[in-house]
This record gives sequence, C-alpha cells and structure tokens, in this order.
Amino acid sequence: MEKEISQAVIKRMPRYYRYLGELISDGVERISSNELSIRMKVTASQIRQDLNNFGGFGQQGYGYNVKFLHEEIGKILGLDKQHHIIIIGAGNLGQALANYVKFEERGFIIIGLFDINPAMKDIAVRGIQIRMVEELERFIKEHDVDIAALTLPKAKATEMAERVIDLGVHAIWNFAHVDLEVPDNVVVQNVHLSDSLMQLSYTLEKQKKEKVKK
Ligand code: NAI
Repeated sequence: MEKEISQAVIKRMPRYYRYLGELISDGVERISSNELSIRMKVTASQIRQDLNNFGGFGQQGYGYNVKFLHEEIGKILGLDKQHHIIIIGAGNLGQALANYVKFEERGFIIIGLFDINPAMKDIAVRGIQIRMVEELERFIKEHDVDIAALTLPKAKATEMAERVIDLGVHAIWNFAHVDLEVPDNVVVQNVHLSDSLMQLSYTLEKQKKEKVKK
C-alpha cells in the first residue's frame, strides 16, 4: 500500500519544485541538502525528512541530482501530465488567470472560459474565447476537463460546483469565498488571497508592537 504523505509535506513540494527549477536555469547540476537548505531557508534535516517520504532521491556524499529531483517532484505533483482547466466567471480574476501564460509551462492548459454575461460572448482572452454558461454541458462532454476554476460570485459558486461535478469534473479550484461540500471522489483547493494578506498584516502589526517595546 502507498504510504500516506502528510498535507504539510505536500504543501512544501511546490516550493522545492520552484527552487530546483531555478537551479536548473542557473546551470546547477547537483546540490547538497545543506546548500539547498541555505537557499530555501529551511533546515537541512527538514529537507531530508521531506524527501525521504518519497524515497530520498539523495546520495551520501553526492547530494541531490537537481534535474532528477526536479523531475521526480514534478511526477509526485502530477506535473508530468497535462491538466485541462476551464474557468467559470470571466471577470477580473477569471481573465487574469486566463492571461497568465506560465500555468501552461507546468502543464495546466486553460481550454475554456465561461460567463453568464452576453456582452462577453465570443470575446477572446489570450486567444481563449469566452463562451456562455449554457454551453457548459456540451463543452464538458466534448472535451477532457480535469479542473474547473470557480471565479464567479460567491452566491453562484455552490450551484456551479454541483453542476460541473454532475458533468464528471473531479477537481475544483475554488476562488469564491464559500466552503464547498463535495463528494469524496472530488477534490477542492480553495484559494483565498485575502487570507495571506491577513497573515501578512498580522506579522506586520506584531513587528510594529515589538519595535515599540524595544
Ligand atoms: P467580477 O465581477 O469581475 O467577475 C465575476 C464574473 O462572473 C462576471 O463576469 C459575471 O458576469 C460572472 N458570473 C456571474 N454569475 C455567473 C454564473 N452563474 N456563471 C458564470 N459566470 C457568472 O469579479 P472578480 O473580481 O473577478 O471576482 C470573482 C470571484 O472571485 C468573486 O467571488 C470574488 O469574491 C472572488 N475573488 C477571490 C479572490 C481570492 O483570493 N480567492 C480574489 C479576488 C476575487
């Protein structure tokens, strides 16, 4: 049976992947866990522990082969495959996501953009045509859709999630500020930019208070 990897470890994997990608661009072929630790500002033992979850990848006295490790982490994260995404809600956020080309470099291909506003019909964002939501059923039947991104008003998100799940979509990238209840075979990743901003504001205020104390 496959070993269950903790969510905390999984959460750190994209960061490893990014750093290793940068090392490859810099022409670095191998790196010790100590060097990686200095770059990433995490302890070397944390790095070893994290990577041991997946079988290690390192060699005593050699360190890590950067390209190999990058590829292996990519496989763990499913980045060796393409994922087709549709975005539902083609407003500010939906269009910003559609405009971001780098998702494609990671294998996330935006194949459809949907909205309810007829004024948007057939407008293209980076070559991706905005379709009306009525076309959703047919589109999902005719295309392989792996992920649906919800960038529509909160009040519409639950209903839309149910609709795409009924059509066979198993992953939801949810930007609407609502907790979705989904069946066990469906995965949801919530993104709340304001949460990270609140964490930033907490740290900022804490720092200010500490300065006053000094
Ligand atoms: P927006 O108003 O620019 O865009 C929303 C779009 O959804 C509009 O084009 C509208 O016509 C469309 N829409 C409305 N009902 C729909 C339906 N039933 N089906 C398909 N499309 C429909 O709003 P914005 O700024 O793009 O925000 C979109 C959503 O994302 C909001 O729920 C907002 O709260 C959320 N948001 C979340 C963030 C996060 O970090 N999670 C950050 C920014 C926005």
